[in-house]
Amino acid sequence: MKSMPWWKEAVIYQIYPRSFYDSNGDGEGDLQGITSRLEYVKSLGVDAIWLSPFYTSPNKDGGYDVANPRDVDPRFGDLSDAKALIKRAHDLNLRVIADIVPNHFSDQHEWFQSALQSQPGSAERNRFHFYDAKADGTPPNNWISLFGGPSWTQVADGQYYLHLFDSSQPDLNWENADVNADFEETLRFWLDLGVDGFRIDVAHGLVKEEIGKDHPDPTGLSNALRLDVDMDTALRNSLLESVPYFDRQGVHEIYRRWRKIFDSYGDREVMAVAEAWVHPPINATRYVRSDELHQVFNFDLLTAPFESAFLYDVISRSIELNATVNALPTWALSNHDSPRVASRIGDHQSRALALFVFALPGSAYIFAGQELGLPDGELENSDRQDPSFIRSNGEIKGRDGARVPLPWSGDVPPFGFSTGKPWLPMQQSWSAFTVEIEKSDPSSVLNLYTAALALRAQHLTGAGVIAWLESPSHGAMREGLLAFRRGSITVYMNLSGQDYAVEVEGQTIITSSGDFTASHIVRVVPACSTMWILN
Ligand code: GLC
Ligand code: CA
Repeated sequence: MKSMPWWKEAVIYQIYPRSFYDSNGDGEGDLQGITSRLEYVKSLGVDAIWLSPFYTSPNKDGGYDVANPRDVDPRFGDLSDAKALIKRAHDLNLRVIADIVPNHFSDQHEWFQSALQSQPGSAERNRFHFYDAKADGTPPNNWISLFGGPSWTQVADGQYYLHLFDSSQPDLNWENADVNADFEETLRFWLDLGVDGFRIDVAHGLVKEEIGKDHPDPTGLSNALRLDVDMDTALRNSLLESVPYFDRQGVHEIYRRWRKIFDSYGDREVMAVAEAWVHPPINATRYVRSDELHQVFNFDLLTAPFESAFLYDVISRSIELNATVNALPTWALSNHDSPRVASRIGDHQSRALALFVFALPGSAYIFAGQELGLPDGELENSDRQDPSFIRSNGEIKGRDGARVPLPWSGDVPPFGFSTGKPWLPMQQSWSAFTVEIEKSDPSSVLNLYTAALALRAQHLTGAGVIAWLESPSHGAMREGLLAFRRGSITVYMNLSGQDYAVEVEGQTIITSSGDFTASHIVRVVPACSTMWILN
């Protein structure tokens, strides 16, 4: 019998290279720093790392503005450091997932520089979206950038180029054959260097439609796309249902071609996961049809309130929708683009939710620092570097809070991260969150994650579907209680403020609150906690 592909139910640890570990004292994390800490990563019990971009970049958008996708930025090291990192990871039996950014390049990429030197209508300009101004001199359409402000910038001869993100991130024209060929080369380049897969940035954005038309409600649409703006759900959904630059049918042709490349690496089992913010949710499953990608991020839990009916809905829906294409879901509580889960929903809540999610079918993604229960960094506006903060004149606070470097050891900043000044300030209260301190505290989040991942590997990986026991539509629902059974494990999450007695036989093997009383048939699930029972 062929065993399950490695990625099917993998636990994947996301590393933001600039914030992980600094090996040379310049205040920024780097590839050698990551390599030197891979043993720690391995000790968590994860299967793979995903590295956010470390390619040549002016770093206007944290490296998601790529000037040369087939080289390493000097701030992170060089190609031999990348090779050494991959080798060390493989020696430790960790897979490596690289980030690929196909929606746009940096304006410092040689293609864009030569487009600027070339005439309107030239082959060089055709690799991007250059258009003439409207008759009155205004941009070709009224689209708003996801980072605020117009999504068009004018060049010296009067033409405009499209950028869905920062003006330093010109969008690529995927109808141009050069673009396609160049990305195929980049995929092969990293695969030949040894990576095991890719996380595809803005995977839903590559194909644009109706560039020649104004959108009927550009401001509404731009608010609907922002997770930090409250909006009537029906209105938001209707706006998101048809975005002229997202989730167009044409993107799937691209991933079908890429899948052939991945499969050509045979038993390497190359995988790819799409960052695709799409609506309605069923659309996400198109990215994981059998001839496309392997996984698609499910972002529901990045914003979900700690509320049982809501969580039940998004979790059961994700499982059911993925099942229609024979795929398993992915679960992420934090990433480099959103507030850290401990800050968003609270300490106990985030411990409970993580333990619940680790028992579900599919892949779990952990954003470095999440295993420490790290909160967002508290930053002054003068510290902020996110282009969305800058472009919105401070209206959007941006994502820097989740990107503050990790605390490793000691009592004072920068907590062993660097011997220099960290690129974002770290606060004194993080002395309670260092790897060193948490290792020695049996009730730390670090020890909870490590124990949970070991038990997951032992009892749950590959254990198949879940059966709900307690939920708004199964069993006698008690306010704020969710439970399911999977394989030999029963999982309870008590989201309420009161303890609940539950009747289930077996042995409690872990709880997010740390305190469990030995095997009784009737046991107590403490308020705001999750419990796994082996039976
Ligand atoms: C993705 C990345 C984000 C970046 C954006 C533009 O959403 O996760 O960090 O700013 O793409 O590349
Ligand atoms: Ca460094």
